[in-house]
Amino acid sequence: MQIDIFDISHSGSGVGKVDGKVAFVKYTDIGEKVECRLKSETSKFANFEVVKVLKPSKFRIEPRCPYFSVCGGCDFQHLSYDRELELKKLILKNELKKVNFCGDVEIVKCSKRFNYRNKIKLAYFNGKLGYNLEKSHEFLEIESCPLADDKISYAIQDVKVFLKNNHFKYLKNVYFRSCDKDVLITFLFSQKEKFEVDENLKKYSVFKAIGAILESDKTKIFKLCGNNQLFKTFNTFKFNVDAKSFMQVNDEIAFKLYDEIISLTSGQNVINAYSGQGLLSVLLSTKCQHVVGIEMQKSAHEIAEKIKTQNVTNLNGKVEDILPNLVKKQRYDTIILDPAREGCKKEVLSAIENEKIHNIIYISCNFPSLIRDLKLLDNYQIELVEIFDMFPNTANMEVLAKLCLK
Ligand SMILES: C[S@@+](CC[C@H](N)C(=O)[O-])C[C@H]1O[C@@H](n2cnc3c(N)ncnc32)[C@H](O)[C@@H]1O
Repeated sequence: MQIDIFDISHSGSGVGKVDGKVAFVKYTDIGEKVECRLKSETSKFANFEVVKVLKPSKFRIEPRCPYFSVCGGCDFQHLSYDRELELKKLILKNELKKVNFCGDVEIVKCSKRFNYRNKIKLAYFNGKLGYNLEKSHEFLEIESCPLADDKISYAIQDVKVFLKNNHFKYLKNVYFRSCDKDVLITFLFSQKEKFEVDENLKKYSVFKAIGAILESDKTKIFKLCGNNQLFKTFNTFKFNVDAKSFMQVNDEIAFKLYDEIISLTSGQNVINAYSGQGLLSVLLSTKCQHVVGIEMQKSAHEIAEKIKTQNVTNLNGKVEDILPNLVKKQRYDTIILDPAREGCKKEVLSAIENEKIHNIIYISCNFPSLIRDLKLLDNYQIELVEIFDMFPNTANMEVLAKLCLK
């Protein structure tokens, strides 16, 4: 089956048509003609895989990773970085039409297309480390991941040696997180199991966790070895890093994003909703009179309390439970929303609309939920949209939308 690719889907697949039906073909580019094989089909669309590229895009390059197109984590390694950025812009612009935004979209590129991730989660299976493939539920053993930063890549090799000599029944995942000098390695077990760190791992900060997912407040976590205080530096500001709390995965882009949020924030009273470990609240507090951070995860809230300045208040709980009352009691000038992939709950958006908060800076790592939420903010006008390329090689993007009251 031959397909002409004429568009790009929001998940980064090439789009073509077969017998009038929409066809999605991964790892292609607009303008290509490809020989394809059917993978799956519904009444509305069909997914194909490339057998042969008949008319290649001039932006095609050799993918760097041997697991590209198998592991499913990357979407654009077959194209140059500039082309990837163009496609990301196009994808977002197409989506923004749904909220009648036709302005330009700036993109802040990352200086590293590879080795940018400060956090990697690997699966453990039969003594091996790798990825659980989302679609097929199969396990893929990997040597390394080219998206991981260098410190993590070394640590992965050491953990592989450790796992050759130590077998576990209940080990589910190994998490790697890098900070200024250290790498934090967390072994997540589904049940209690004997675990001792060997000499080779003692150069790392090693944690053992027991639970279903690491991020949950229910998951118990124990430190086995390594430095007591772990830090990351942003400009002249040093902040604590722990094994569990949310941390942006790409330092360069996270810090560029924070700089932009600070420069776009206006007024003296600011809410930083979904505030994580509170770094942004502290940075904002140098510009504003009072910053209120809201975060539901206990471990992140505790770090935020440690690093806060005098004019920061951190509230521990769900934004949807706290925000509606908060904004009734006092006037806020700007609200920063940086929710998880699901976006904001309706009651959060209606509270903002009801209290007529002047500015909203919405940061999203999942633009379909951003678009859904923007549709609900009727009384606001979109002033600016920017992409921060937090996740090069993948179709994921960090999007900043600045809105103001109409
Ligand atoms: C995308 S992260 C942003 C963190 C922070 N702004 C940063 O840059 O590090 C989302 C954060 O929201 C928290 N969160 C998710 N749902 C929440 C909710 N309903 N209420 C409060 N916090 C929530 C998560 O624990 C996580 O720390």
